[in-house]
Amino acid sequence: MAETANSIKHLASALARQTLLDRDLTSPVAGRTPIRLLPWLQVVKIGGRSIMDRGAAAILPIVAELRALLPEHRLLILTGAGVRARHVMSVGLDLGLPVGSLAPLAASEAGQNGHILAALLASEGVSYVEHPTIASQLAIHLSAARAVVGSAFPPYHHHEFPNSRIPMHRADAGAFLLADALGAAGLTLVEDVDGVYSADPNGPEGASARFLPDVHAAALAATEGALPFDRVLPELMANARHLTHVQVVNGLIPGRLTAALRGEHVGTIVRTGAGN
Ligand SMILES: Nc1ncnc2c1ncn2[C@@H]1O[C@H](COP(=O)(O)OP(=O)(O)OP(=O)(O)O)[C@@H](O)[C@H]1O
Ligand SMILES: [Mg+2]
Repeated sequence: MAETANSIKHLASALARQTLLDRDLTSPVAGRTPIRLLPWLQVVKIGGRSIMDRGAAAILPIVAELRALLPEHRLLILTGAGVRARHVMSVGLDLGLPVGSLAPLAASEAGQNGHILAALLASEGVSYVEHPTIASQLAIHLSAARAVVGSAFPPYHHHEFPNSRIPMHRADAGAFLLADALGAAGLTLVEDVDGVYSADPNGPEGASARFLPDVHAAALAATEGALPFDRVLPELMANARHLTHVQVVNGLIPGRLTAALRGEHVGTIVRTGAGN
């Protein structure tokens, strides 16, 4: 018996004998800040509804701005879903499809929008890449080209949380999780409004909506009103590891995205839990 025990090879590991559920035991090992994988990367999420659905009038100026930014920044451009995803989700909901079936349907429109942007930037060496490539080969793609385009949706599919019938992790959540996991230099959300307001500026209370130039994610999480991004985003931001803030900018006004990537405050800065 003793001999058998002596022949067992033990792996020296700080977590070898621990339940991963005990915070006191895991935090000395797991409490360190993770490394930044791509600290020079700027992540830009282009709104599906707010930019892509508007067609050439909104897309071409943004493409021109992105093209001009390429010598200055290395970009991961992520696209959201728009009106086609809303339609396919309403058909799916009518048919009783579970949320895990709706998530990839909506995500496929975000991918379509990505293919459109990538085609318009192809002459600059920019291509559309799928999630597995973003997960494991982003660095080599960004060594070959100044930017790549991908879908902003997280690839959750049947792993999507069943908290609601509409997938809760959509383009903004996906873009944020990715940018923070990569330790990117920044994340900019490109919308059709100047930033975040106290209420939807295009809604019934629009006339009294106040512009919020600088707001903490925790304050937004505590509100119940509409936001120009996924409801779950402020909750995710509470646990940010790298990104101290995200900037929401108006992509219909030329120059705003460029200024934001240069570190200027031209929209709403939403501060995360990683900030001071
Ligand atoms: N508190 C708010 N502040 C600013 N805009 C808001 C607010 N609440 C709602 N909105 C609305 O959000 C709209 C943007 O819509 P939405 O975020 O769904 O588009 P999108 O980001 O392009 O979509 P997607 O996430 O699919 O890419 C704005 O035009 C604005 O009317
Ligand atoms: Mg939005």
